[in-house]
Amino acid sequence: MSGRATSTPGGKPPLYKIVMLGDSGVGKTSLVARLTNPDRPLNHDISATMGIEFDTQMLDTPQGKVKAQIWDTAGQERFARVLLPTYFRKAKGVILVYDITNAKSFESLSERWMAQLNDHSNADDLAKLLVGNKSDLDGSREVSQEKASAFCQEYGMEFLETSAKSGDNVLKAFEKLIGIVHDRALNAQSKNKGGSAPAAGLKGVGGTGGGGGQKEEDTDGTVKLDDGSAPAGGDPNGCGGC
Ligand code: GTP
Repeated sequence: MSGRATSTPGGKPPLYKIVMLGDSGVGKTSLVARLTNPDRPLNHDISATMGIEFDTQMLDTPQGKVKAQIWDTAGQERFARVLLPTYFRKAKGVILVYDITNAKSFESLSERWMAQLNDHSNADDLAKLLVGNKSDLDGSREVSQEKASAFCQEYGMEFLETSAKSGDNVLKAFEKLIGIVHDRALNAQSKNKGGSAPAAGLKGVGGTGGGGGQKEEDTDGTVKLDDGSAPAGGDPNGCGGC
């Protein structure tokens, strides 16, 4: 514990937007579902995400509790291209997901997703975590941990393998990323006006976890996360102009 501020001026935990990126079928939706409903079995009949969905979850960090607003977008090209600018708006962290049994999904990270990240966001401002999902299928592995580590060194991020099926490392992955995000925000906060002003992107919210699409109040002078870029009326499949 550092003794630094751990909440917004209203005493509420800060809220950070984080986004999931990766090819269709790597398990982005399943990872979020496992995080928010740890006891629910994996749904293998899950349909492909059609637009953007988001959910919120309270998470622990070494610096205290924070709330993550986790945005899950469709990996399919036809949706992703249209939605990415909205998706990255005000994001503080990104989880890049590939499937360890699918080499193509790993290659897509450097061929497609890192380029999208650079085009639509200030990539240096985003905390990043590489996640190799489906670790329960180790017998069908196509991507070695050495390859993944080399990718992380090249792009400056940390790496974990997870299984949305068994739950292995799922909470750890989200906590690791949100811990980096929170630490960065606290550092920015202490540099900013001697620590009295909240870091950009922080927003106090009430409640503890639960459904996506909630409207945030803007009473404490912090930056509003829910800025109209969220799916209208909390529609989890809101799809902008697509
Ligand atoms: P899009 O919404 O199209 O972008 O796909 P997605 O990345 O959200 O993948 P999704 O969560 O829909 O999962 C795709 C399929 O992989 C589903 O049948 C899941 O049940 C399965 N799956 C996801 N994670 C795991 C895992 O860790 N292990 C195994 N064995 N299967 C998984």
